[in-house]
Amino acid sequence: MAGDLVLSRTEAGVLSLRMNRPEKKNALNRAMYAELSDALDAANTDEAIRAVLLLGGEGAFSAGNDIADFAGFDGGRGLGEVLRFLRAVVALEKPLVAAVDGLAVGIGTTILFHCDLALATPRSTFRTPFVDLGLVPEAGSSLLAPQVMGHQRAFALLALGQPLGAAEALDARFLFAVAEDAEDQARRLAETLAAKPPEALRAARRLMRGDPAPLLQRIDAEAEAFAERLVSAEARAAFAAFLGKR
Ligand code: COA
Repeated sequence: MAGDLVLSRTEAGVLSLRMNRPEKKNALNRAMYAELSDALDAANTDEAIRAVLLLGGEGAFSAGNDIADFAGFDGGRGLGEVLRFLRAVVALEKPLVAAVDGLAVGIGTTILFHCDLALATPRSTFRTPFVDLGLVPEAGSSLLAPQVMGHQRAFALLALGQPLGAAEALDARFLFAVAEDAEDQARRLAETLAAKPPEALRAARRLMRGDPAPLLQRIDAEAEAFAERLVSAEARAAFAAFLGKR
């Protein structure tokens, strides 16, 4: 069962998972990753769930991984909860739809590469300041972003840290649609998917996504580099600067 940090509801065959930590702009902490992972694992075996809809809050889809968690990383527990979440996303057998309003930073952006349909409001922005934080891209984005938008646009997003506006993200084939009522449209699309013959939908989706092995390998390789970077002097200084500002 999801707690307050992730609001979970199933209606018309659609499991809605809403990140709910508005006071931190939906920065994802370990508890949230664990709740999301539990919900995705359960969705795979629950026949009543035919599609999953990932949502954030008004003005903030997610500010990315909790930087205090990053700063507290000592290698001991590894990237456990984050990696479990990413593997659960890759293992999900139901269509994943997302609606973004506002900020999507770090994993708030890279998670969208895993969606079958991602929609956003016009004011949404997508940003991955990995390198500025002394880090490397994660969540399979080093593999998926170049596939979706070509190397140079992916490099501008993931290495240069250049923000993408909603229109640019649509143009880069990162989004399915941009609309003021992105969440309503995303919900309708998820409900439409949920009403399809589930076995055919599952088979079609599996074919379109292809072999998950290279993606899982890349997620692991990124995680290894990420864990090394988290304890680097570059990253420590960046985290201290962000947390110090508070
Ligand atoms: N981790 C931890 N706390 C975060 C956070 C994060 N990723 N993002 C935002 N917060 C916290 C802020 O520290 C602040 O907490 P406080 O009220 O206790 O001081 C609160 O959320 C609101 O954020 P604030 O910075 O005041 O809002 P803003 O609208 O001015 O800026 C952001 C929003 C997202 C641009 C800014 O918070 C930011 O740059 N966050 C870091 C994003 C990031 O680098 N994520 C990791 C990517 S790998």
